[in-house]
Amino acid sequence: MPQFRLMQISDTHLARRHPELTANFDRIRDHIDTTRPDLVINSGDLAFDVASSPDDLAFAKSLHEALPVACRYLPGNHDIGDNPTELGPAPSQAVNERDRQTFIAAFGEDHWRFDAAGWCFIGLNSLVMNSGLAGEAEQFDWLASELVGANGKPVAVFLHKPVFLNTPEDPELAASAIRYVPPSPRRRLVDLLRTADVRLIASGHVHQRRDFTYRHVRHVWAPSAGFIISDARQDRIGIKEAGLVEYRFQPDSFEVRHIRAPGQIDVDLDELFGRKAG
Ligand SMILES: [Fe+2]
Ligand SMILES: [Fe+2]
Repeated sequence: MPQFRLMQISDTHLARRHPELTANFDRIRDHIDTTRPDLVINSGDLAFDVASSPDDLAFAKSLHEALPVACRYLPGNHDIGDNPTELGPAPSQAVNERDRQTFIAAFGEDHWRFDAAGWCFIGLNSLVMNSGLAGEAEQFDWLASELVGANGKPVAVFLHKPVFLNTPEDPELAASAIRYVPPSPRRRLVDLLRTADVRLIASGHVHQRRDFTYRHVRHVWAPSAGFIISDARQDRIGIKEAGLVEYRFQPDSFEVRHIRAPGQIDVDLDELFGRKAG
């Protein structure tokens, strides 16, 4: 395979009661149909909010199953619950094994590895980190062995939450604790990833597009496929727009394209809440 074309979508937040988000997903489906990437990865928050509306997961599943190319999935906090953090309020819905298993039954394993175009691709469940669930320790053990198994190949890692804002040493702050992998598992994750030739860490969750390099590792934040969050509700760190990310991997190199599918629009979370309240 001369090159491997991968599309990352994220934070689709699908729900029958939010047709604006389904419309944005339909534009992405049309773009996938036109461009036919080798694989689509949804990096989490497939559903609008499973905790308050379990049907959202089934709705998200039906739409993803209709995509014309192969897909892989990672869970988001709105699919299986959120990480416990040291600072800030406890999550309204903490990650739990029941919701994790429901996700796995619908979308397949919540962590995976495959190889293509000379690269090793690893997907991680970022929500179990700091949870104490059995799946947290199991995933770290599994990751350690997969990184050895990469055998010197370049590695691309996908997960829902960004590992950090600017550096691994960033302190956890109450206002943004839920935005990143919590500090304790973050140290372990960063140390583990340094045992291999990791070149890309791709995440979602923040609903902002961002692309920066820290110590030879490129960090790509995919925007939400569905909606943006206003400055009144959330700091502006990167670019607030609905869109997706396209990658082309070749042995020993990769390219990143930040795009919007034709017809995608910037739905604001306030509009969704307003409509719901109204
Ligand atoms: Fe999200
Ligand atoms: Fe999220």
